[in-house]
Amino acid sequence: MGRIDTLLSKEAIDERIQTLAAEIERDFEGETLTVIIVLKGSFIFAADLVRAINVPLRCDFLGLRSYEGKESTGVVQITHDLTRNIEGEHVLIIEDIVDTGLTMEYLLDNLKTRKPASLKVASLLHKPARTKIEVPIDYLGFTIDDVFVIGYGLDFDQKFRNLPFIGVMTPDAD
Ligand code: IMP
Repeated sequence: MGRIDTLLSKEAIDERIQTLAAEIERDFEGETLTVIIVLKGSFIFAADLVRAINVPLRCDFLGLRSYEGKESTGVVQITHDLTRNIEGEHVLIIEDIVDTGLTMEYLLDNLKTRKPASLKVASLLHKPARTKIEVPIDYLGFTIDDVFVIGYGLDFDQKFRNLPFIGVMTPDAD
């Protein structure tokens, strides 16, 4: 299976989340926020981020699927839709990683048709080397190199989401 090296420690992630939460709090002061948690990969990041944001907020969940193993299938599917109408609300999407940007572009286009008052994006990670479509990221945790990462919600074949840090899998040399 190979080795898992730590790319971002739990401590580094925790510290960055406090900074992002402070920025979000400042930007949404006096507002009620609707947070859209993109399943499955962002569930751990979102759980930590929302607990650090001290403005009134609602959480809803949107399930998306675009990857098999390490490759994007190129087709984004909604596996679970929002349970509420977001028209007129201040919406913050919480995503684990923006890689090619295809998923986020699909999501932004889809959510804009539902007429939110504002629509912002928070992503824990961004891999600019793989960008196919530039998408706005209003609150970014970390920029990373073109490596496949696992842990802290991110999976490889649905496994490793439970690692408390972000790691990189290095295959065994044979
Ligand atoms: P994009 O559409 O290429 O931007 O891919 C976005 C989605 O691909 C993310 O929400 C992740 O679920 C998945 N993804 C992209 N890169 C990685 C990675 O390095 N590890 C695990 N999942 C990834």
